[in-house]
Amino acid sequence: MELLGEIYPKRVLLKNGRWVTLRPLQRDDVDPLYQFFLTSVSEEELLLLKHNVKDRFLIESWCTNLNYERVLPLVAITDEGNIIGEATLHRTEFGWSSRIAKIRCVTCNRCRGMGLGKTLFSELLMIARQEGKEKVWGEILSSQLAPAAMLKQLGFERVAVIPGLARDLFGATHDLWIYIYDFTKEEAMKQAHEDAY
Ligand SMILES: CC(C)(COP(=O)(O)OP(=O)(O)OC[C@H]1O[C@@H](n2cnc3c(N)ncnc32)[C@H](O)[C@@H]1OP(=O)(O)O)[C@@H](O)C(=O)NCCC(=O)NCCS
Repeated sequence: MELLGEIYPKRVLLKNGRWVTLRPLQRDDVDPLYQFFLTSVSEEELLLLKHNVKDRFLIESWCTNLNYERVLPLVAITDEGNIIGEATLHRTEFGWSSRIAKIRCVTCNRCRGMGLGKTLFSELLMIARQEGKEKVWGEILSSQLAPAAMLKQLGFERVAVIPGLARDLFGATHDLWIYIYDFTKEEAMKQAHEDAY
């Protein structure tokens, strides 16, 4: 497996012609990460996330207690030093879930549709693949149309729906959709392609 230090920092070009740098979150990222969540996530969207990312203490604890083998947070940073996207890959070493990784992502709401979400997800899929994980698990709510489109484009499959599990700011309920990216199917597809030619 390639070491993180050999892969990052990495420069990528967004669809708006701007370059950003991708690298793992660092201890001194508290201010830019806090600013990112504060200014980039609406109150409505906040309720759809797992954590209150507008809580500075939470952001400080994430930056202080970094353990890339457990949670790898990958951030996208502009040349001005602003974080405009973060995606995380969550793994466990023990038990049935050690064969899977979980993935999450938020991008700045002013730069959506520029390819950043797909870029961050693709990077973390590459890392999960290199680590030998068999599947990657993503969760969204049924009202989140952009993430649903993104996951489908990346090759994730919706494998389960838990009806009415979530309740939003306005009291409306939403289904939880569970998506899986299956590396074993990827191998089977490659094999079928090779067999055919
Ligand atoms: C999901 C999310 C990360 C996508 O980020 P992004 O930077 O817009 O991602 P991309 O630009 O790579 O777009 C990916 C795809 O999402 C879809 N998409 C993006 N913006 C969209 C919009 N405003 N409306 C509908 N679909 C949209 C498109 O299918 C797009 O692919 P395309 O441009 O090739 O057609 C972003 O919407 C987000 O942060 N949402 C809030 C957090 C969240 O719901 N995360 C869920 C995943 S854990």
